[in-house]
Amino acid sequence: ESNLNFVFFLSHLHRLLLSEQTITPIINTKHLMISAYKDHRLSGRTRIIGIMRRDELQSLYCIFCCQHSCSLGYTAYTYMHSDHFGYPFVTTDVLCKYQPLRNATHVTISTHASITENQDQRFIPIRNKESTAMFPYNFTICISNLFGDYNNVLQFVQTMEMYKLLGVQRVVIYNTSCGPELERVLLHYKHEGTLEIVQWPIDHFLKPSAGWNFPEHPGDLHYYGQLATLNECIYRNMYQTKYLLLNDLDEIIMPYKHANLQQMMEKLEQENPGVGVFVVMNHVFPKTQFDDSGRFKVPQWQNIPGINILEHIYREPSRDSVYNPTKLLINPREVEQTSVHSVLKAWTSAVTVDPEVCRIVHVRGPLQGSLTKEQLLVDKRLWDFELIAKVDKVLQNVGLLI
Ligand SMILES: *[C@@H]1O[C@H](CO)[C@@H](O)[C@H](O)[C@H]1NC(C)=O
Ligand SMILES: *[C@@H]1O[C@H](CO)[C@@H](O)[C@H](O)[C@H]1NC(C)=O
Ligand SMILES: *[C@@H]1O[C@H](CO)[C@@H](O)[C@H](O)[C@H]1NC(C)=O
Repeated sequence: ESNLNFVFFLSHLHRLLLSEQTITPIINTKHLMISAYKDHRLSGRTRIIGIMRRDELQSLYCIFCCQHSCSLGYTAYTYMHSDHFGYPFVTTDVLCKYQPLRNATHVTISTHASITENQDQRFIPIRNKESTAMFPYNFTICISNLFGDYNNVLQFVQTMEMYKLLGVQRVVIYNTSCGPELERVLLHYKHEGTLEIVQWPIDHFLKPSAGWNFPEHPGDLHYYGQLATLNECIYRNMYQTKYLLLNDLDEIIMPYKHANLQQMMEKLEQENPGVGVFVVMNHVFPKTQFDDSGRFKVPQWQNIPGINILEHIYREPSRDSVYNPTKLLINPREVEQTSVHSVLKAWTSAVTVDPEVCRIVHVRGPLQGSLTKEQLLVDKRLWDFELIAKVDKVLQNVGLLI
């Protein structure tokens, strides 16, 4: 069957504008497109991840282009995610169910069905053209949203080196902005090949909130678009990695019974056949409580900006009456939509991992600040790993240590 009747040849257009950016506005709307992926779980339909204004619900069309031609627009089906935390903009999946051009390389969303009325609309590439069953990486971490003048170098380098010792091969980070010393550290890991930096200039398009609670932190969008970046990261890495960890940059998903993530996942997979979402409980190690022995008060780190996580070995106990936030370790091919603490839509069930097997080491300000040292739990798991020499090497490499 030929679709040529529905195809315009590109000579009709003055030019086809391609977007090289991670964020592309949809003209005549307040909506934004992030990226487009062929979804092999949905018969190869194209999914465009976007950030859309919840109260703006006009008709939208998907327009495809390949090397020499573009299609007419066909209905774009929009699925706003259920999590928006009260902000006016929400992460949205746009599904293009009818695919008029078999070999389309680019797609866009438009308010017009005709390409000739879209001279100024930019097109984005369609990724994940092939599905594979072999992946270059076993463990990848998605870290959403670096913003402000975040310059916590010491914690970042320690955490990156810790991830590597645990068997993480790649970290993806979405960068809105950061502090000057951390910038050098990011470039170091990029050159090393461990870190992929996705530029995320969301503040050029919207007024992002620096918090998660709308009344307290007003703005257009929850937490610098954290939900959009987490979902984007799942699709970006769908055929790059066996497992994906979704956590913040001050959190370490830490096996307590196994030497590394590989060994832990072999066991968890065996015990939970077919499960593709593992939920890990967060545990706060207050940065206000220090190890008394001073064993890891490393003299050469005195002037390095940030927190030395090795000095914080006191863990807050879980409270029965208070929700303990969780983070996720997933098989990305089984997940369709995610939120921060749980997946929203998946083709698999989720299990919560026993905290004796795995918990998140989260060194940060206390949540139970009134507790004394005696009321906290001593947890020296971080001390089982040889971090100091590795951290020193990175700090030397970026010129922060002689
Ligand atoms: C689509 O791609 C295939 C393989 O790359 C090629 O053989 C075919 O000619 C292409 N079809 C069109 C309409 O461009
Ligand atoms: C990934 O895991 C498989 C076992 O599932 C192992 O054989 C392989 O060596 C691992 N790859 C890397 C790069 O560690
Ligand atoms: C992060 O984003 C800021 C703002 O666009 C930019 O100045 C900086 O160079 C970026 N850092 C890296 C490592 O890409």
